[in-house]
Amino acid sequence: MNNFNLSEKSKNYYEENDIYEIFSIAEDYPNKIYKCLLPKIKNKVVLDLGCGTGKFMKKFYKEAIKYYGLDLSNEQLKIAKNKVKSNNVQFICCSAENIPLPENSVDVIISTWVLGTILEVDRRNKVLEEMKRVLKVDGSIYLVENDIGGEFEEIRNRYPDIKKTKDYNDWIEEHNFICENKFKTYFKFENDNQAKEIFSNIWGEDIGKKVTSKIIEQNVIIYKYKNEIID
Ligand SMILES: C[S@@+](CC[C@H](N)C(=O)[O-])C[C@H]1O[C@@H](n2cnc3c(N)ncnc32)[C@H](O)[C@@H]1O
Repeated sequence: MNNFNLSEKSKNYYEENDIYEIFSIAEDYPNKIYKCLLPKIKNKVVLDLGCGTGKFMKKFYKEAIKYYGLDLSNEQLKIAKNKVKSNNVQFICCSAENIPLPENSVDVIISTWVLGTILEVDRRNKVLEEMKRVLKVDGSIYLVENDIGGEFEEIRNRYPDIKKTKDYNDWIEEHNFICENKFKTYFKFENDNQAKEIFSNIWGEDIGKKVTSKIIEQNVIIYKYKNEIID
């Protein structure tokens, strides 16, 4: 397990999920992402790819016809399952490199901060291929990612050295995704100490020391992929 980050094998997806859950609840406290994505998923067959502990599933499943929550980590899914019990929800524990759904079967795929956790570009490409395979011809994919700048990037040493975030976001744009929306949102933890502890746990003490407030500004970008066939 990789101790100090949120990449695919992070301990916070397998052993210390309670820490991830606090982080996830604090993220986008004003619900800006929710408000932006809600109209897209209404009355649709939705795949929440890398759904984690169900942050968005909990908010969206009632609006969808069918809601698939897919994640590689059974421990993450266990928390999501405790939040959502409904006939229109199906949990899938597997790698997104092989999605066990038929081709042309999903209206909307949402994936919030997932592809960047897969560090090998070949595997990321495979996930994109799979997303496109299961997507209906008139379907859409929305990726929620961190944009350059803002306190969250600065604290994690991704600003002013923007290379990591820029390289990743460039990769997304090279794959036919366009910016649907970008905005500032923020994390809100219960208190300054909680914010510090969560960041220390995930990214290590040096990063934790940089946290001075329970509110941490975050720049978010929402990318949209629309099936080329009908464009
Ligand atoms: C940063 S978390 C985001 C979770 C959730 N989307 C959210 O917004 O809170 C990344 C999630 O992607 C999952 N994940 C990472 N690699 C994956 C893969 N290859 N296939 C499926 N899920 C994966 C992790 O287990 C983790 O739950």
